[in-house]
Amino acid sequence: MFKRLKSEIQVIKEKDPAMRSTIEVFFCYPGFYAIIFHRLSHFLWNHSLKLLARILSTLVRFFTGIEIHPGAQFGERVFIDHGMGIVVGETTIVGDDVLIYQGVVLGGTTTQKCKRHPTIEKGVIIGAGAKIMGNITIGQYSKIGTGAVVLNDVPPESTCVGVPGRIVRSKNKSHVVDLEHNKLPDPVAEAIRALETQIEENEKLIQILLDKNKICVTEDKIDDKVECGDLLKKDGD
Ligand SMILES: CC(C)(COP(=O)(O)OP(=O)(O)OC[C@H]1O[C@@H](n2cnc3c(N)ncnc32)[C@H](O)[C@@H]1OP(=O)(O)O)[C@@H](O)C(=O)NCCC(=O)NCCS
Repeated sequence: MFKRLKSEIQVIKEKDPAMRSTIEVFFCYPGFYAIIFHRLSHFLWNHSLKLLARILSTLVRFFTGIEIHPGAQFGERVFIDHGMGIVVGETTIVGDDVLIYQGVVLGGTTTQKCKRHPTIEKGVIIGAGAKIMGNITIGQYSKIGTGAVVLNDVPPESTCVGVPGRIVRSKNKSHVVDLEHNKLPDPVAEAIRALETQIEENEKLIQILLDKNKICVTEDKIDDKVECGDLLKKDGD
């Protein structure tokens, strides 16, 4: 047990440049308590003391703002930095050496009783506020950007950012999506472009009609001798 505690503290030293002493970990790191108490509640959960496990995890949530379901499986040396607002669902699997920042949700997308939460492989970094939803796998040593919403598997050693999550770096180049902003879908811009095209076509049509009827249009004056009815009549001739 002391060996485990030591490795949990060691990982904080390695991953948080703001940490200055071991004693600080015991007083100022809610993520540290959340992990330690989760190990206890997970033990209770697996030994048919499910209600007690839920009560313990709810108490930890009250004190830390970190909600980890007792059924979730956590590997070694997982570090939760800051922590407030983290939610980890029942069937989540978190591998060794994972780093999770505040506001992360490892959530389910179905109400069925099945594996409905993500699997996070070894060495993944999950940026602040990222949401990883459903029974998907985040491959080892991948990075999830702050605020990303990830709905599909992420291959190992990749960087996934944005909403919905797009892979912008990967060991396997075929997974990479270009992050140029003009290639992101923008329905409002598309509608405006369609309107512009329509207006251009209408202008061309009007010009053809005017030319055909020898009507001169100056900036603020149209030859008012010609009525619209005449135009239609002449066009029909
Ligand atoms: C994603 C992250 C891990 C960087 O990974 P990386 O592999 O080093 O990637 P890069 O920094 O080279 O960025 C790759 C591309 O994604 C973009 N990007 C990075 N993070 C992004 C984010 N959160 N949202 C949208 N785009 C992002 C970059 O602008 C870059 O785009 P470009 O190629 O067009 O220049 C990092 O940006 C991040 O979000 N870390 C989380 C840190 C955190 O939450 N800290 C909380 C402390 S309290």
